[in-house]
Amino acid sequence: MSKQRAKLVVGNWKMHGRLAENAVLLQAVAQGAGELPAQVRVGVCVPSPYLAQSQSLLEGSRVAWGVQDVSAFTHGAYTGEVAAPMAVDFGATLAIVGHSERRAYHRESAELVAVKTQRVLEAGLTPIVCVGETLEEREAGSTEQVVGMQLDEVLAKLSEQEAARIVVAYEPVWAIGTGKSASSEQAQAVHAFLRARLAAKGAAVADVPLLYGGSVKPENAEELFRQPDIDGGLIGGASLKAQDFLVICKAATTSVAG
Ligand code: PGA
Repeated sequence: MSKQRAKLVVGNWKMHGRLAENAVLLQAVAQGAGELPAQVRVGVCVPSPYLAQSQSLLEGSRVAWGVQDVSAFTHGAYTGEVAAPMAVDFGATLAIVGHSERRAYHRESAELVAVKTQRVLEAGLTPIVCVGETLEEREAGSTEQVVGMQLDEVLAKLSEQEAARIVVAYEPVWAIGTGKSASSEQAQAVHAFLRARLAAKGAAVADVPLLYGGSVKPENAEELFRQPDIDGGLIGGASLKAQDFLVICKAATTSVAG
């Protein structure tokens, strides 16, 4: 019994792009997104210095924009940090939290990710909470335990109403930037597990968008997005090429129609 939920495809540019090439990319994505059916929502999460550029080129388009991380604080003596309300000043509506690159390279704990999610919600942004297991964890059979713990830590800090406003992205660490996507069966199995975990928080939370991320490409997007609990994707490398990103967004619409 699968439900038809709207699809969401978000680009995660990571630390890529400069002013001139961003302008070309943003304009092409805005134009292409204009031709997509309404049930597919599109967003890009850009490096913070380019929020103003994103706002000026995407305002009035179908494409939402946002940041890839936020501070756990709203303001203060935290050199180098960007607070969620600052992103709001530039029209952002999305904020990725808990990306595996932040968890691994910046030692972000599940607890810190939960606090950041709270800051994002307080600022009125939509948090895209990333969870995912490493290859060692998958091979040890602890995928569900790992992603379950990562999600539970966040849900524990939120009311049902707050939890209903999050987006969750399942991104197996071994699939990110490796060209080796999870199979649609592997991804669906974890998504179904996460869906049950979300539903346990309350009926309003059961249908939050569940995105898959990790080597989504034009060639595999449709098959992934056709799975009953995969509501779209978080796209890294392929979001840097307008053509590829738009084909992936289109794949989300095909899977809605079909
Ligand atoms: P990838 O990255 O599509 O390049 O694998 C996805 C992500 O890290 O969000």
